Amino acid sequence: MSEHIATALADGVLTVRLNRPEKKNAITRDMYRGMTAALERAEAEAEIAAVLFCGVPGAFCAGNDIKDFLAIAEGGALPGEIRDFLQALVAARKPLIAAVDGLAIGIGTTLLMHCDLTYAAPASVFRTPFLDLGLTPEAGSSLIAPRLMGLPRAFALLVLGEAFDAEAAKAAGLVYAVTDDPEAAALDAAKRLAAKPPEALSIARALLRGTQDDVAARIDQEIGYFADRLMSSEAKAAFQAFMAR
Ligand code: COA
Repeated sequence: MSEHIATALADGVLTVRLNRPEKKNAITRDMYRGMTAALERAEAEAEIAAVLFCGVPGAFCAGNDIKDFLAIAEGGALPGEIRDFLQALVAARKPLIAAVDGLAIGIGTTLLMHCDLTYAAPASVFRTPFLDLGLTPEAGSSLIAPRLMGLPRAFALLVLGEAFDAEAAKAAGLVYAVTDDPEAAALDAAKRLAAKPPEALSIARALLRGTQDDVAARIDQEIGYFADRLMSSEAKAAFQAFMAR
């Protein structure tokens, strides 16, 4: 398990905390592995009824670690950890709840598109600067976001790179509720779900989400483009500029 992913099980809720505050919770390969392991654990253990993703005060997640991206751009292939995590999100059968207190960037925003309920603090910011980094949308967001919020807003978020504040994210359907204590609200919802009959909960969730085959296929399609863009000179220059700030 990653040192920057802290998990805790209580009252049927597996809390998965991104905990790398010194880097605003930028996600490393090791952290993807830790989150995938947590999702697999949630699937395997009957006493886990719901998963809660949360971060640290001020930062839910600053996106993929750009140092890792630079290393890939300078001579690697896209590591399997990212795809494994995204496909584990899609395959999850138990409710995924999120609490955002602050920054939600890149995968910090697109991850939320797989969550059933997201609670956010008023000062939270949602942003996907893919294009500015020479990259393209990922995590199934190119399919889910237009369905969720309509094409113009999805385009503004994913292509223009517009920052959405908490109220805009709520209006777009990305956030369920804006509250001063998102973690308490998210935990309360997760516990209430965990108290429900698990088989009925599982069926209800699957009915509401519908088939995820198209999302799983889109994730792989997006990864094809993303991996190619990661190796591009424009992406490499953007990563180098960030690391040299
Ligand atoms: N990858 C690697 N390191 C990151 C990071 C990322 N995605 N986001 C933040 N960090 C690091 C910074 O380099 C800095 O490290 P340092 O203290 O060793 O210099 C530390 O986290 C704090 O970040 P800082 O930029 O000083 O904080 P800030 O509050 O001024 O700005 C952000 C926070 C998130 C707005 C800014 O760091 C940023 O734009 N990060 C990149 C976001 C991004 O493009 N993610 C990829 C999306 S695909």
